[in-house]
Amino acid sequence: MEKTVDNSLPHDHSTARGFCMTSAVWMAIATLFGLTTAIQFIAPDLLGNIPWLSLGRIRAVHTNLVIFGFVTPGLLSAALYIVPRLLQTTLYSEKLGILTVFIWNIFLVSMVVTLAMGLTQGREYAEAIWSIDVLVALTFSLIFINLIMTIKQRKEPILYVSVWYICAAVILTTLVYGIGNVIWVPGAGALTGIPDAIILWFYGHNVLGLLLTPLAVGVAYYVIPSACRTPLYSHTLSLVGFWVLLVIYSHIGTHHLLQVPAPTWLKVIAIVDSIGMIIPVAVVLFNLWYTVKGKLGMIHADIGAKFVFTGTVIYLLTCIQGPLQSLPQVQRVTHYSFWVVAHAHMGILGFSGMIALGGIYYVLPKITGRALYSKLLADLQYWLVLIGLSGFMVSLTIAGLIQGNGWLNGETVYRILPQLHVYNIVRASMGLMIVVGSLIGLYNIVRTLFFQPKEVQ
Ligand code: HEM
Ligand code: HEM
Repeated sequence: MEKTVDNSLPHDHSTARGFCMTSAVWMAIATLFGLTTAIQFIAPDLLGNIPWLSLGRIRAVHTNLVIFGFVTPGLLSAALYIVPRLLQTTLYSEKLGILTVFIWNIFLVSMVVTLAMGLTQGREYAEAIWSIDVLVALTFSLIFINLIMTIKQRKEPILYVSVWYICAAVILTTLVYGIGNVIWVPGAGALTGIPDAIILWFYGHNVLGLLLTPLAVGVAYYVIPSACRTPLYSHTLSLVGFWVLLVIYSHIGTHHLLQVPAPTWLKVIAIVDSIGMIIPVAVVLFNLWYTVKGKLGMIHADIGAKFVFTGTVIYLLTCIQGPLQSLPQVQRVTHYSFWVVAHAHMGILGFSGMIALGGIYYVLPKITGRALYSKLLADLQYWLVLIGLSGFMVSLTIAGLIQGNGWLNGETVYRILPQLHVYNIVRASMGLMIVVGSLIGLYNIVRTLFFQPKEVQ
């Protein structure tokens, strides 16, 4: 896959390091907000109804932070090392990159403060107010410029599939973010009625499907063959998967709206193509797993690759559940329940989050020139996140089915709530493991970035 790298180039990687640090810090903060939210499900009055810690506010802080604070910067950190490396060049401008990291962190801080103050546009995953939307759109545009210019100055003529995925994610998100946040209506950041719901879920869905998914798949396509020291099983297949993902994933957001009076034709397209998603997912997984065939030991030996490989396995589970819950008959039971929350954590943490962590650990020694501070701590983080997430998924899936069954039978909410209590406790306990894992990861990354001795190149 890879040719020898021109070592005469001044590799700086400060942008990749900046995004790495951003991801580690915000993962810890985001999961702490998640845990606080989970505790409120168990003891709603515990925090004495402090407004800025109320569930309605911190839930949005949590969801936005995991997407834009933890997973996206983590994947970008790996991506901004991978793309120049594959193209036999350096990143076009590290200064522009550092500026982007700086603006990125300003938008994250502003988002937390405004959402905690109750300043929200009230649209799920698009809660941030207009001025922050502008900053987000700006950061993606800056990364877009940096990537395109890097491609322009490349020495390697062939664009390996990771470059396709990573560039597509940035280019498409620059567009999708502005459209989905109705950025041309500064006050409301919204249209009205059903058209607004459709455009919101075009965004909410594509932030998963056209940002997190292609970034994660792009990183996996680099880490897995590199860790196995073997070429990718099939380049043709990799590009088939890329184009099918772009064609199918981009327009199925209405599967989030099967319970609302959206146009039937749109729902039918969303349902049919949600099932069709099996194709690009299967293509990616066959390709990666055939590459690993006979070399699982090499994956196991590398902590970065281990996180990434696990992410691909959870990708399979997420994408078995996804098409299933796109069926109206299934969604009639599972919608508006913890079942969907289980799927959300499986997809964002189990798939793209695991690959983000793996990407970081894989590139960290390369972007710092220092050995990882502690492989043991990284391994501990792996198990804490994996066990925490698994318990999280099982408890929420069961709780979701209890809720869905009650809903289907016309039960009143207050009779179901006591049945959920034990599952909420399990969820919070498992969440605590994920929080501890993220704090360990932060410590390990800080030690590696700032305190490990430089290795002789
Ligand atoms: C980095 C890891 C995490 C990611 C990527 C993540 C992601 C998400 C997402 C996407 C949602 C929205 C779910 C939906 O609307 O369907 C959510 C909600 C939530 N998360 Fe997390 N989360 C993470 C960690 C945690 C942790 C450690 C906890 C602690 C227990 C937690 C607790 C919650 C709670 C309580 C909700 C609200 C659920 C509801 O409204 O019913 N999360 N999370
Ligand atoms: C085969 C691919 C997939 C399909 C067909 C699919 C389908 C769905 C459907 C139908 C829902 C809405 C369920 C409901 O509201 O009742 C949903 C929710 C969700 N999915 Fe997926 N999914 C897929 C993969 C993924 C992946 C890879 C991720 C993460 C990167 C993801 C993240 C989420 C999240 C966060 C939600 C919750 C949205 C909310 O807050 O309501 N999904 N998915």
